[in-house]
Amino acid sequence: MHAVAIVAAAGSGSRLGAELPKALVPLAGRPLVCWAVDGLLAGGVTEVVVVVPAAQREAFRAVLPPAVAVVDGGASRTASVRAGLAAAGAAATAVLVHDAARPLTPPEVVARVLGALEAGAPAVVPVLPVVDTTVLVDDDGLVVDAVPRAPLRRVQTPQGFDRRTLAAAYEALEPDADLTDDAAVVRRSGVAVTTVAGDERAAKVTVGHDLTLAELSLTAALREATP
Ligand code: CTP
Ligand code: MG
Repeated sequence: MHAVAIVAAAGSGSRLGAELPKALVPLAGRPLVCWAVDGLLAGGVTEVVVVVPAAQREAFRAVLPPAVAVVDGGASRTASVRAGLAAAGAAATAVLVHDAARPLTPPEVVARVLGALEAGAPAVVPVLPVVDTTVLVDDDGLVVDAVPRAPLRRVQTPQGFDRRTLAAAYEALEPDADLTDDAAVVRRSGVAVTTVAGDERAAKVTVGHDLTLAELSLTAALREATP
């Protein structure tokens, strides 16, 4: 299967608060986006398109391998993914959409998503259970109710799609729509979304503490790999 990965890296990272766009922030000396691209290639994708903030295009080009395409993103994640889809090579039959902000996503997660697509699923997301008690609150922050958490899942990336299904869903979407993920885009078109097991190591770097956790996770992985 020829799978193209679209890496959404055009955000600013306002919650992280670094001077660089979040995807260029170093983790063990390498930009987050480089780690993310490595995981996708190791997991079996054929082609990678990275969507970047237009003003930093050259900085991204300088750190990414020559075979990786770099295109300008938009004001929302949805607009950025739309731009990435438009730049994907004609040969791809499957699309994986991934956040650059998930630098340590294990290749096994990528492979599980690809496997479900190969088995015929039109849309696939990696998920994890919710481990904390989860509640509904009112406008004053008072707890209104507890939510049964057994059927709840946290959704990660990469999210995988049959290419035609994803392209049609984006075409049907309003031009200024801003959804938090791509499974939401295809669900609007009535497409069933399959789940596979995610991984805690695919956690998103959102705030400073997440970067500390990613550094620790990497140190642990290197220690395990060293005999
Ligand atoms: N993203 C994007 N284009 C945008 C906004 C976000 O490609 N206009 C990407 C980010 O680069 C990130 C992913 O979508 O890899 C997930 O978004 P998020 O974690 O919210 O990143 P940022 O939007 O950069 O961070 P923040 O919301 O804190 O500003
Ligand atoms: Mg954001």
